Amino acid sequence: MSAENPITQTAIDSAVAAALASINAAADLAALKAARATSVGEQSQIAKLNALVKNLPNEFKASAGQLIGKARGELNAAFATREAELFVLAERAKLAAESVDVTSAAAPTRMGARHPLSLLQDQISDVFVGMGWEIAEGPEVESEWFNFDALNFDADHPARAMQDTFFVEPVESHLVLRTHTSPVQVRSMLERDIPIYVLCPGRVFRTDELDATHTPVFHQVEGLAIDKGLTMADLRGTLEHFARIMFGEGAQIRLRPSFFPFTEPSAELDVWHPGAKGGARWVEWGGCGMVNPNVLKAAGIDPEVYSGFAFGMGIERTLMFRNDVRDMHDMVESDVRFSEQFGVNL
Ligand code: DAH
Repeated sequence: MSAENPITQTAIDSAVAAALASINAAADLAALKAARATSVGEQSQIAKLNALVKNLPNEFKASAGQLIGKARGELNAAFATREAELFVLAERAKLAAESVDVTSAAAPTRMGARHPLSLLQDQISDVFVGMGWEIAEGPEVESEWFNFDALNFDADHPARAMQDTFFVEPVESHLVLRTHTSPVQVRSMLERDIPIYVLCPGRVFRTDELDATHTPVFHQVEGLAIDKGLTMADLRGTLEHFARIMFGEGAQIRLRPSFFPFTEPSAELDVWHPGAKGGARWVEWGGCGMVNPNVLKAAGIDPEVYSGFAFGMGIERTLMFRNDVRDMHDMVESDVRFSEQFGVNL
């Protein structure tokens, strides 16, 4: 080679060596991309040598062009190889970073729990649905007529007094927060065809202070059956079945004469609770009786043709003596640690 040809094998070798060094030094795809221009691109030494070819004397052009072409081919191949390697490494690193150890213990998450009052209410509903009864509901803000008048309460009955009942303003609206679930009896009689067998669980309100055994907002469940020929014996049999499911086969019921405006005769219902903490005993459970003919008439039902029985009890109270909950506060505070103790079944 003459001195006029700067494209020597040595110059090419050193250009290739420099380019290979920067290709191989790239540790990841981003670095390789950054090294592209100086290793194989327009600013690379080999590109600069190539730019000289056109000014060479003609006799050198062909061989110089060949040498450079070969070198560029090698460099492009080296670049592609390195790019493929780095791509594989990048994929591996990504998979490693995203891998999940399926054998590692799960982080504990708290499930929460249903409130025992809801569980009990559902369980009671199931007992009656199992006998073919239907579930009926009514509004919590109720008209005085349904809450009192239609249930045969006298105009001056003490339950109507301000100190027991939350009246909704303005007073002329004649609305109250229902004090019991019994108004749903009247609504059911007006809305449904006879025979009627309904269970009415729901929230009720009284102006009591919250203490260990009282709460101004609580729950009751009401039962109503209207049919031809129903007697106290049907009431008794129904309540006995209910009591056995709630308190076990050894449970018994006892009816004590009492008074409610909407039933005649009326009775207090006691249950023999065989599993009571501290020993089996009689516990006051609720009220019941044969639907008063005046109530049937208020709902447009002929008492000469049909008769009915009804009963009602508190769900909080039932949970208290059935599951030995001593303090009403536990039921209203919504502390999940209280609910969790009851699990998913009572
Ligand atoms: N409503 C009554 C109360 O809140 C409970 C009750 C008693 C309901 C006798 C009845 C019944 O259906 O027949 O105290």
